[in-house]
Amino acid sequence: MTFDLKDYRAALGSFATGVTIVTALDSVGNGHGLTVNSFASVSLEPALVLWCLGNKSDSYELFATCTAYGVNILSDDQTDLAMRFAGKGDQRLASGEYGKLATGSPILPGTIAAFDAKVVERINAGDHLILIGETQAYQRHDGNGLAYFRGKFGSTAALSGS
Ligand SMILES: Cc1cc2nc3c(=O)[nH]c(=O)nc-3n(C[C@H](O)[C@H](O)[C@H](O)COP(=O)(O)O)c2cc1C
Repeated sequence: MTFDLKDYRAALGSFATGVTIVTALDSVGNGHGLTVNSFASVSLEPALVLWCLGNKSDSYELFATCTAYGVNILSDDQTDLAMRFAGKGDQRLASGEYGKLATGSPILPGTIAAFDAKVVERINAGDHLILIGETQAYQRHDGNGLAYFRGKFGSTAALSGS
């Protein structure tokens, strides 16, 4: 089946999601980030999560070969962060701007939750690579999440009544 790609993407964009920055360390220990909304929970026991990496990403090599990754669930005041890691160009993190949980993957401040996962499976699927990870540690905080719907960022505030 071939579709009009623009229209197909628009239809997929009707699925509202949260927004995450997925992070990993490169071979010399520098942190990198990528804005991702394909994050999903897979299994509770064992605790498995996934996200999908586009094969045209400049960071493909780094994330495709990483052994662990962090998933930082953005709060509704972190749109700037989402934009910063969605563009072409340098998506490196400064060493002072993140903390660590279990694996050493960068965990960003100001989020509403974060997961630190060890990669357990990589599955090639079309023009993406599915990275399944087993959660080693997580944290959660109060606050409203950043939402993404039909190409626009918003807040989950209407859902939590605050
Ligand atoms: C809201 C949003 C969600 C995104 N989700 C994904 C995703 O799930 N997987 C992915 O590989 N890229 C995703 N991207 C695109 C990347 O963030 C990035 O823009 C793209 O990979 C091109 O930049 P790069 O070549 O530096 O990686 C998303 C972008 C936005 C704005």
